[in-house]
This record gives sequence, structure tokens and C-alpha cells, in this order.
Amino acid sequence: MEKDGELLDLKDAQKKSTDYFQDFDAICYGGWAMAGNLVKGKWFLEKAVNWKDKRLSMFCVGGSPNDNPDVDIFLQNAITEEQKKYIKVFYCQGGFNYEKMKTPSRLAMKMFVSALRNKKDATEKEKAMAEKMASSYDISDVKYIEPIVAYLGEKDNVAFALTDEKKK
Ligand SMILES: Cc1cc2nc3c(=O)[nH]c(=O)nc-3n(C[C@H](O)[C@H](O)[C@H](O)COP(=O)(O)O)c2cc1C
Repeated sequence: MEKDGELLDLKDAQKKSTDYFQDFDAICYGGWAMAGNLVKGKWFLEKAVNWKDKRLSMFCVGGSPNDNPDVDIFLQNAITEEQKKYIKVFYCQGGFNYEKMKTPSRLAMKMFVSALRNKKDATEKEKAMAEKMASSYDISDVKYIEPIVAYLGEKDNVAFALTDEKKK
């Protein structure tokens, strides 16, 4: 690897020239889930077309627990079949923090929770979801990034293994 790892906000990454990304072996975009979509993933997806020689991944944090079936649907639909050939998408359960949420998001969540509460034919699952989402919770854990780290590192591991092989 010619460059060390870098952590950039999207707005800073958008200012970088094409050359800046050239020497990285692996690039990962992280965003949050809003109404089932990975927020601001478009920039990465457009760039990724020219980064097919790299290890590429996207991850999404959200309020849903990892084992929520909606997460599987999200993972299937987040990118196209073509994009799946060179990008792997991950999901990491996170939570809701109403104290840190901006007013429009807080209002949207309030409306969503009250719509679910008032829904006449709401299932037990929907009722439980509404109660859970009515207040802040944190189900995040740093361990959920491990599969992403392993995936991004694989290309390096291969390169390392080959180097080792040559020495023998
Ligand atoms: C308006 C709104 C919509 C959301 N929609 C979803 C969703 O569809 N699925 C989900 O798992 N989490 C959803 N969330 C939860 C956020 O993805 C979650 O709180 C996330 O941790 C926020 O990212 P941050 O911690 O980087 O701010 C939503 C949150 C808000 C405010």
C-alpha cells in the first residue's frame, strides 16, 4: 500500500482530484439509512465505475437491528446487479439519538411513530417498532465493522500472500 488509511467527510472527498484516489487499494463509503435508502451514496457509486481495480464497499448505519428482514431487502436493492460485481454493501445496526437529531428529522420521526401508533390494522411487530422508535436507543457496537474491515483487507492479504510465496 502506497498510502496510509484516510478518513474523509464526503464533502471533503468531493473536493479531491481524481489523482488523489489513485493509490488507494480499498475505498469504502459509509452513510445512514433514511426511509430505506443509503443517504448520499450517489457520489461514491458514480466514482466507483472508475475504481473497479480497487476493493470497494459501502456501509449503512440505521435504527433497524441487523436481523430485521428489511435489512436483507435493503442489502439486495441498495445497488444494481452490475454494481454488485465490484462493490459489496454492508449494514451495521446503530440506533436513534433524538438529542442529536436535527429538527426536520425529529419531526419526521415523530410523524412516523404517531402514524404507526394510530394505524388501525397495525401488526404486533409494527406496534413494537413504534414504541421502540419513540425514544432514543443505541444498539451499535464497534464489532459490526469487523466484516467490512476483513473485506477491505482481503486484497492486501492476497498481495501479501503472493509476496510471501515468492520469498520461499
Ligand atoms: C427521517 C429518518 C428516517 C430513517 N429511516 C430509517 C430506515 O429506513 N431504516 C433504518 O434502519 N433507520 C432509519 N433511520 C435511523 C437512522 O438511520 C439512524 O438513527 C442512524 O444512526 C443515523 O446516522 P448517524 O448516527 O450517522 O447520524 C431513520 C432516521 C431518520 C431521522
